[in-house]
Amino acid sequence: MKPAKNTMTVLITGASGGIGSAIAQLLAADGHRLLLQGRNAERLQALRASLPHSDDHLVLAADLLDADQRRQLVERCATIPGGVDVLINNAGVSQFALLADMSDETLARMLQTNLLVPMALTRDLLPLLQRSERPAIVNIGSAFGHIGHPGFAAYSASKSGLHGFTESLRRELADTGVRVHYLAPRAVDTEFNTTAVNELNRSLGNQSDSPQRVAEQCLRLLQSRASGRRFIGWPERLFIKVNALFPAVVDSALAKKLPVIRQFALQNIQASK
Ligand SMILES: NC(=O)c1ccc[n+]([C@@H]2O[C@H](COP(=O)([O-])OP(=O)(O)OC[C@H]3O[C@@H](n4cnc5c(N)ncnc54)[C@H](OP(=O)(O)O)[C@@H]3O)[C@@H](O)[C@H]2O)c1
Repeated sequence: MKPAKNTMTVLITGASGGIGSAIAQLLAADGHRLLLQGRNAERLQALRASLPHSDDHLVLAADLLDADQRRQLVERCATIPGGVDVLINNAGVSQFALLADMSDETLARMLQTNLLVPMALTRDLLPLLQRSERPAIVNIGSAFGHIGHPGFAAYSASKSGLHGFTESLRRELADTGVRVHYLAPRAVDTEFNTTAVNELNRSLGNQSDSPQRVAEQCLRLLQSRASGRRFIGWPERLFIKVNALFPAVVDSALAKKLPVIRQFALQNIQASK
């Protein structure tokens, strides 16, 4: 059945996670039809059952690192009656560790999941999105994509790359109807952050947000007519600007915190063994 005029069909990657589930809850309450993507089919089914109008939503479980599964996902999306209007590239992974402690496999997994997968999925879904009357892409970045942070070198690199990709694509598609949004949260209370990361944040006085706050900002982007960028949290928004203009100021602030960051990074690696 073709959805009503203002109803969007939205593919959310990483819908089984904290932020993805919160986005799903908000969009479903707003009347949109969801394609819930993630690896954990059980969690996705439980999420679907908890959503308003649960019968309207579909679970599309796949490991996005697997090219065949990604291809099947895109093929399945092409069969959705009424098409797909929005892609939210939200799936992501992180590891809090010093670079010396990160294996090739960890580096590759982070860069692939956080950067290459959103690029490839966007490319493969674009022809389908462009058939929509109101096509949009939302890339979920991170404050750490704008402030390279010790202990998060690979994660910061992947999210910085995602921001560069979003900016290029927004400009590349400027004369099409596709809106390309970017949303960069600071720390968010989800399973994404290990005990050591939460302790680091407490120790450094870093604030964290609820996943619902991120979901509200995501909905606002989707409601806007033009492509948009949003950075969540104060003073993080200020730090991002200071870092862009005067990186030496942030270098010296973070240098003072290095002993604490190193201590928690080592604790995190030991806990993961
Ligand atoms: N939490 C934070 O502090 C924070 C801050 C800034 C930005 N972010 C960004 O927000 C996004 C969501 O994070 P979150 O906090 O909601 O994390 P989360 O609760 O750990 O959820 C991560 C999601 O990504 C999915 N995923 C990971 N690898 C995948 C793969 N290979 N194929 C398919 N799905 C995969 C997971 O699926 P399964 O569980 O089903 O495997 C899960 O649904 C990420 O991009 C993250 O970088 C998070």
